[in-house]
Amino acid sequence: MAKPLAHHYDQGLRDQEILQQLRSHYPEGPTLHQLAPLDQLHIGGLAASARLLALIEPQSEVLDIGAGLGGLMRQGAAMGLHMTGLDITHRFSALNRAISQLTPTPMGGKLRWVTGNASALPFTDASFDAVVFQHSLMNMPDPENVLAQCRRVLRPGGQLVMHEVVGGPNQAALRYPVPWAEGPEHSHLLSLEALTTLLQRQGFTLQHHEDWSQTALAWRQRQRQKEQTAQPAVVSPQWVFGERFLTMGKHLLENLAQQAINVVEISARC
Ligand SMILES: C[S@@+](CC[C@H](N)C(=O)[O-])C[C@H]1O[C@@H](n2cnc3c(N)ncnc32)[C@H](O)[C@@H]1O
Repeated sequence: MAKPLAHHYDQGLRDQEILQQLRSHYPEGPTLHQLAPLDQLHIGGLAASARLLALIEPQSEVLDIGAGLGGLMRQGAAMGLHMTGLDITHRFSALNRAISQLTPTPMGGKLRWVTGNASALPFTDASFDAVVFQHSLMNMPDPENVLAQCRRVLRPGGQLVMHEVVGGPNQAALRYPVPWAEGPEHSHLLSLEALTTLLQRQGFTLQHHEDWSQTALAWRQRQRQKEQTAQPAVVSPQWVFGERFLTMGKHLLENLAQQAINVVEISARC
């Protein structure tokens, strides 16, 4: 039987050691930049999250679906957004909260953490102004249902923004493991066309979509060079994924270069 998705994410997670490491290296509390190698678990780091957050109206109530370790949430809160992070991997939600309690930045917005499944959102109807997906829809086997759930929890006129990995023209060449999946059982990549069609079918009006693949490839190349230097980072994705991240990171670069995957930004309204 297939292992649950949470096992993929938490099998190598060194939660207590991460907190200890952050406390001892950053006694005043880590900054968003110092946390980025650990808590921005997507292609493009802080800059990609900043670009996504800039699409959201000020002071919105935002639901971050698949929030991971919360990099985007803390960045959003620092801009005055009210951020709820939902994640199916309970140890990610717990560590996300514990990291937030270490950060010194006075946050303009509020932060809230919920462990749950995007397929059955544990929120009342029309309770958010915006929903964000950052490298998480690609893990979900039932995107149509998930998007219907988003529509339900969004207020009329609400925003849906995505920074997602989609299948590229050469998807058949996809190499595993990748950071979001050990193999095909947890990887559910849609083509951009299939994703935009689904959004429209669920009553969303597309505002724009943009291909970030070239920027993503250049960013990943720079990260790969850093990963190959001997100097150990204070925290890195290896503290989350273990040594298998080295292979995952290599495959991510190859998959981007061969267009097995593309990276897109999408903005829509209901
Ligand atoms: C690749 S990580 C990205 C984390 C974060 N968005 C980021 O960019 O740093 C994908 C996240 O989505 C979460 N996830 C996947 N499927 C989910 C589901 N059905 N419901 C809630 N969270 C889910 C995973 O547990 C994981 O934390």
